[in-house]
Amino acid sequence: MQTIDPAASPTSPNLGHNLPQTDIVTAYCEKTAGSEALARTAADCFPSGITHDSRYLLPHGLYVEHAQGPHKWDVDGNRYIDYYGGHGALLLGHNRPEVKAAIDGAMEKGTHFGAGHPAEIAWAGLVKELVPCAERVRFTSSGTEANSMAVRLARGFTGRSKVVRFRGQFHGWQDEASIGYANHFDGSSTLGVPPSAAGNIVLSEVNDLPALRSILEEDDDIAVIMVEAMGAMTGKVPLAPGFHQGLRDLCDEFGCVLLFDEVVTGFRVSPGGMQEHLGVTPDLTSLAKILAGGLPGGAVVGRKDILDQLDFKVAADTNREKIHHPGTFNANPVSAAAGAETLRIIGSSPVCKQADATAEDLRNVLNQVLKKESVDWTAYGSSSVIHLCMGVPQDQFDPLAMSRTELQNKNTELVRQLRLAMLVHGVDLAPTPGAVVSASHTTNDVEDTCRAFSDSLHALKQAHLL
Ligand SMILES: Cc1ncc(COP(=O)(O)O)c(C=O)c1O
Repeated sequence: MQTIDPAASPTSPNLGHNLPQTDIVTAYCEKTAGSEALARTAADCFPSGITHDSRYLLPHGLYVEHAQGPHKWDVDGNRYIDYYGGHGALLLGHNRPEVKAAIDGAMEKGTHFGAGHPAEIAWAGLVKELVPCAERVRFTSSGTEANSMAVRLARGFTGRSKVVRFRGQFHGWQDEASIGYANHFDGSSTLGVPPSAAGNIVLSEVNDLPALRSILEEDDDIAVIMVEAMGAMTGKVPLAPGFHQGLRDLCDEFGCVLLFDEVVTGFRVSPGGMQEHLGVTPDLTSLAKILAGGLPGGAVVGRKDILDQLDFKVAADTNREKIHHPGTFNANPVSAAAGAETLRIIGSSPVCKQADATAEDLRNVLNQVLKKESVDWTAYGSSSVIHLCMGVPQDQFDPLAMSRTELQNKNTELVRQLRLAMLVHGVDLAPTPGAVVSASHTTNDVEDTCRAFSDSLHALKQAHLL
């Protein structure tokens, strides 16, 4: 493995970064020359040339031209099996014909009416039918917005200020959610967030109900406990059996609102999300991603008495201040049409189970390849989500006995080289690294992924990274 100096080579693929060069990087750059050219132009438009932090990949990310089912094609014409699935939004895969038809139909009619419309009612009706806690629905434009409103509703309802969150869990990019997600685990405010925000956040560790009880006993200003329903990074740091019920019981005992962040798990783990799967009903739930069928959209849903704080008449009748909630693109007709069609399919066919079964097959074959190649990693996860833990062999792997930091892959260079190697072999992994599997992936995709994984491990060995 050698290090190249970008300054010495005007055509260096590293776009100004001094990174280790391997045969994997060379092969990736040869395969993706069109993406590299676009990345150079993008670097003049966007910070780091990207529009979402998780798309940051060196020497450059892929530029994709089109996608269908479980596959996407880059601007150089290469096909990839897609395991990032629209950041988890595409349970049905890309461009599912019925969803595309619904979008096309909505586009014909207009994209914004500045008024209510039938599709938003159909969409909300399906949400209410599928999600156990959803007595009322308020659409937003993203999961970040849904969580922001959910916390505001909880504060208004309880008359309290503070939010209990779990270290490492992600709820969007709003001020208070940025504390203790990727850094600032001591609870201090991140750059650009006022120090006062830190005073509203109480960070705790998952799977420790006694610690939570102590927090609630000592502080009577806790409005809400919010939890990523599958655990941090969609289950990379899983939650112990009984933890959700423990949260429910504590919230009931101490008069706090229980908020499940089901932005990823909603309509994936089961048609009714994690809450249906576990039989634990929160007071509020934030939804996004699959909810809007691959288009922008989110929702906060939950108990009528809590969402009634948004209701003009209830506010007037009870002489309480109404919580204000505009949002230009709330329930826009195109997202409503895509979302309603997606939820109709999820509610009427076994697509969640199908994706789960494919993911289970993939997890097993990845682990078989790892054993065969004597690589001390483990593929794990639940439902249709797969994570790779690098550095712990399968026979010693117990994620519930491991800490958040132990489960995070610290060798970021190895993660990068694995992702590039998989791209060279036609597979786009999710960046954690792992896979978000859709109902459109087939056994052929699993077999091709297995071959690509085996070839990638060989390439990593040749580059002396394993
Ligand atoms: C668990 C979770 N909550 C909230 C969000 C934020 O959603 P959005 O990106 O739609 O704002 C995400 C996004 O990935 C998420 O994974």
